[in-house]
Amino acid sequence: MSERTQVGILGAGPAGLLLSHLLHRAGIESVVVDTRTREEIEQTHRAGILEQGSVDVLVESGVSDRVLREGRVHEGIDLRFGGTSHRIDFAGLVGATTTLYPQTEVFVDLADARERDGGDVRFGVREGRVADVTGDRPVLSYVDGAGTAHTVGCDVVVGADGSRSETRRAIPGLRRYSREYPFAWFGILTEAPPSAEELIYARSPHGFALISQRTDDLQRMYFQCDADEDPSAWSDDRIWSELQARVAGDDGLELRQGPIVERTVLPFRSTVSEPMRHGSLLLAGDAAHTVPPTGAKGLNLALADVRVLAEVLERALGPAGRDALDDYTPRALGRVWKAQHFSYWMTTMLHTAPQDTDFDERRRLGELAMVTGSTAGSTYLAEAYTGWPGLR
Ligand code: PHB
Repeated sequence: MSERTQVGILGAGPAGLLLSHLLHRAGIESVVVDTRTREEIEQTHRAGILEQGSVDVLVESGVSDRVLREGRVHEGIDLRFGGTSHRIDFAGLVGATTTLYPQTEVFVDLADARERDGGDVRFGVREGRVADVTGDRPVLSYVDGAGTAHTVGCDVVVGADGSRSETRRAIPGLRRYSREYPFAWFGILTEAPPSAEELIYARSPHGFALISQRTDDLQRMYFQCDADEDPSAWSDDRIWSELQARVAGDDGLELRQGPIVERTVLPFRSTVSEPMRHGSLLLAGDAAHTVPPTGAKGLNLALADVRVLAEVLERALGPAGRDALDDYTPRALGRVWKAQHFSYWMTTMLHTAPQDTDFDERRRLGELAMVTGSTAGSTYLAEAYTGWPGLR
């Protein structure tokens, strides 16, 4: 079966769906396909922190105002080291905040908005592919649940198909920059009340821990572990004593414990693929870049790509013509590399690598003292964490 649309999008995660939504508002048609079902995507737990700009795009484009009702506004974070908490006051330093609103909720809001507006989103397909991307008649193809092959002729195609992207392979000479880290995060979900009002990023001689949240009775916590850690080998007691040791301090902070209902090991990797566009194919989100989870930039970066991409596509498919597509890679990459640096910097400042020496340990405490002890240092962190204003 063969049909046509303006923009073919591979990947119905937050990046693909937000793009389809913004294009719809600009009067541009799209077809979105994903090999996962809606239920599978809803069960993927990812980070939970939205920059102000990410909240704004959801609310201003009419996706949903649920993020305003159910999201929790955080005006700062605690950096904890040497057993003492140091608050970074985002609101006071840069007049910005973040919102705790898990990625799954963003996905649900976007999927509902597309359904409400009659969007064409096809979940649970097989063999989603793009072809003929060098010229200006690219094709999106897939096989449906009944085994029928479909091709959709497009003006442009977008790869929003995640870190294991198929579409990325269609870019000849793609350059992939990457960095591995010799550790990972052990993440848990626990049925317990929050242990603190805001997020705590703790560095201790036992290693890093992050105390995050989800709701009044469900919390997300992480601690640094080996890259090949087996989560099932840990008893609940051992997990709690590891977490507690890493946040112990002079204020007697005690984590509120509850049943551990989920545990996963999260890999640590930084990657950037360049260019983000070849011919009629454009990449967005994890398909083009991934960041380690420290600082929660992954989803925010994907949404920022899409804001730029929607604007570029609106021009390219209008009177400006396809030359407008040339703007995408340089505009998107500006923010991508800043976020790469920030995620790398937060990661290396807060974790201990196996080959680190006492020198590294002492130097890092100096770095943390500088970041928390001076307005210039804290402002640097606050600006990057809440997201750089504007989409240059
Ligand atoms: C989370 O809540 O999952 C989370 C929060 C902050 C991070 C990473 C993950 O830096």
